[in-house]
Amino acid sequence: MKLKEKLNELKNKVTGGEKDSAKGHYLSAKEIRDISKANAKVMMALEKKKHRKADESEFVTEMKDNKNILEIENLHTYFFTDQGVVKAVNGVSFNIPKGSTVGIVGESGCGKSVTSMSVMRLLQGPQGQIYSGSIRFKSYDFKRDGEGNPIPVFNRKPNGKVLFEALKDKDGNAVLDKDGKPVRVPSQKTNESGMLMYEMEEKVFDIAQMPINEIHRIRGRQISMIFQEPMTSLNPVFTIGNQLDEVVFIHNPGATPEMAKRRSLEMLELVGIAAPERVYNAYPHELSGGMRQRVMISMALACDPRLIIADEPTTALDVTIQAQILDLLRDLKDRINGSIMLITHDLGIIAEMADYVVVMYAGRVIEQGTVSEIFHNPLHPYTIGLQKSKPTMDSNTDTLFNIPGNVPNPVNMPKHCFFKERCSKCIGKCSGDYPGMVQVSPTHYVACHLYGEENNDEN
Ligand SMILES: Nc1ncnc2c1ncn2[C@@H]1O[C@H](COP(=O)(O)OP(=O)(O)O)[C@@H](O)[C@H]1O
Ligand code: SF4
Ligand SMILES: [Mg+2]
Repeated sequence: MKLKEKLNELKNKVTGGEKDSAKGHYLSAKEIRDISKANAKVMMALEKKKHRKADESEFVTEMKDNKNILEIENLHTYFFTDQGVVKAVNGVSFNIPKGSTVGIVGESGCGKSVTSMSVMRLLQGPQGQIYSGSIRFKSYDFKRDGEGNPIPVFNRKPNGKVLFEALKDKDGNAVLDKDGKPVRVPSQKTNESGMLMYEMEEKVFDIAQMPINEIHRIRGRQISMIFQEPMTSLNPVFTIGNQLDEVVFIHNPGATPEMAKRRSLEMLELVGIAAPERVYNAYPHELSGGMRQRVMISMALACDPRLIIADEPTTALDVTIQAQILDLLRDLKDRINGSIMLITHDLGIIAEMADYVVVMYAGRVIEQGTVSEIFHNPLHPYTIGLQKSKPTMDSNTDTLFNIPGNVPNPVNMPKHCFFKERCSKCIGKCSGDYPGMVQVSPTHYVACHLYGEENNDEN
C-alpha cells in the first residue's frame, strides 16, 4: 500500500488537481526543468507499479453488469511531456455489451487510439501512462494448477477414468521404455482444429491494474487489435506463415509445427483468401493492401478473441476493398460470437456496422447511445456538427460543412465545456462548470448544459 500512497502524493504534485502545469504561454527553461523533474518522479512511480509483482487478487474484480464484455470507467490516460501533462483520455466511461459492435467516433486527436492502446496496455512508457480509472474485461482464460501451468482436458472412459495411449515420437513411432515396453501417457482431448484442449474459466480482470507481465494472458489471446496500416504491423523479413504460426504457438501450449500450419491455413481460408498456401509462403510486401489487412484479421482471429479492437481498419484501403473488409469483420464477429470496438472518424462506417456509438471530443465522451439514437436524434452540438460535415449523395452544395475552430490545448483544458469556443448554441451556464452526463433514455447519454435542467446530476 506504501507504493499506492506515494503515487497519489506525486500525482497531486504533477497535475495539481485541476490546475495544469502549462500556463498557456511559452515556457521558460526553468519552468520546463521543473515540469520534467516533477514528471520524472510520477512516471517512475507509475512504471514501478506497472512492473510490480502482484497477486492475482489485486487485479481480479467483478463486472458492474454481467451482460458486458468490457467496462471502461473514468479512465485517465496521460502523456508526461516537457510542455506539461497531455490529458489525452480525460475521464472516459463506456461499456461494450457482449456480442455487440460499439463504434467510437470523433475528430482526429480526440483520444480514440489512446483509449484503445490503454485497453491493450500498449502505451509507450514512461511518458504514456494510465493515470487512473478501471478497464474491466471478462476473460475466458486457462484454468491453472498451483504452479501456474494450464490443466489439460483428458479423454475419459465411460466409467470416468482417464484414457491412456502410447506416446509417439515425431515420426509417429511408439516410444519405448528401458524394458522395451511402449510408454503410455494420458490422452489429451483436441478440438475440431486439432489443438490440444485445456480447462478454461471465466474471470474478470481490471486491465488498468494488471502488472505488465500478466498482460499476455489477455493481449492477442482474448483481445486482438487490427491497426490502420497492416504493413507496419507485419514483420517484413518473415513469411506470413512464420508470423501466423508464431501466434498459434504462443496461444496454444503444446501445438506441433504441423498443428500450427493447419490452424494458420484454416485462418487464412476463413478470411476469404482463395490460395492460402501461396499467401502462407509469401512475404508481406508481395501482397496487396487489402490482402495484408485480411492477413492481419486472420492473425487477430487465430486465438478466437472475445473482443476485437479495430482502429480505423479500412482508412488506408480503397472503397471497394473497404466494403469487403467490413463485411468480413461483421461475418467473423458472428462466427466467433465476439464483440467489436470499432474506431473510426467515418460516420458512414459507424451507421453500417455499429449497434452502439460513443462520441468523443477532446479526451472525453460527450454523447453515447444506440446507433439509431445518435443518427436520428443527435443531441450534442458537436454530434450534430459531425453529422452535417458528412458528405451525402443528395447534398447539392460542393463545400462540406466544417465545424469552425479547434480543439483546446490538451495540456491546458478549460474548466467549462471543452466545446464552448466552437459551439453556436452556447447559453449562460456554459461558462460555468463542465456539464455532467445526462441520461435521456435508457441507452442515450449526453454531456451538455442544454439538456436535463432538473436531473443534471454529476456522472
Ligand atoms: N506519444 C504521445 N506523446 C504526447 N501526446 C500524445 C502521444 N500520443 C498521442 N498523444 C496525444 O493524445 C491525443 C489523442 O491522440 P489519439 O488517441 O491518437 O487521437 P485519435 O482520436 O485521432 O486516435 C492527441 O492530442 C495527441 O496529440
Ligand atoms: S454545454 Fe454549452 S457550450 Fe457545451 S456543447 Fe452544450 S451548449 Fe455548447
Ligand atoms: Mg487514431
